[in-house]
Amino acid sequence: MLLTANSTTQLPSIASEIISFARGIRIFLFYGDMGAGKTTLIKALCESLGTTEPVTSPTFSIVNEYIGTKNRIYHFDFYRLKNQTEALDMGYEEYFYSDAYCFIEWPEKIPDLLPANYISINIKVLDDNSRQIIIKQI
Ligand SMILES: Nc1ncnc2c1ncn2[C@@H]1O[C@H](COP(=O)(O)OP(=O)(O)O)[C@@H](O)[C@H]1O
Ligand SMILES: [Mg+2]
Repeated sequence: MLLTANSTTQLPSIASEIISFARGIRIFLFYGDMGAGKTTLIKALCESLGTTEPVTSPTFSIVNEYIGTKNRIYHFDFYRLKNQTEALDMGYEEYFYSDAYCFIEWPEKIPDLLPANYISINIKVLDDNSRQIIIKQI
């Protein structure tokens, strides 16, 4: 599925579309350069799942946890990961193989730990306010 967000104001409806497209798959991998809009889209997804807490990149903790209306949500940012052992040490499996939603920024850092099935989301900057968003079921 290919979507274009011409403004961040469109992200709430795009987030709902992405959640229905996923048909119950709960692991989402986000690809895109720094500043592409991964965290911003994840914030919209969390809000669409009912999170009222602030959603910000878990830079220092690697993972943030939010509570949605019906689901727990884990938000990972692996940007600062030095090696995959750090993900093993933080017990990533407990999160990935729980029934919670997992939104993962910088999955490139854990190439050997990716689950078999997930939703991949690729964000490209078109201009200051516009983003192309490509969503695939893997
Ligand atoms: N359509 C859009 N979708 C997502 N972000 C957008 C959009 N238009 C502008 N932006 C801005 O781009 C920036 C994206 O930053 P962020 O989400 O932190 O990127 P990343 O997590 O990919 O590094 C934010 O300042 C956001 O407001
Ligand atoms: Mg980010």
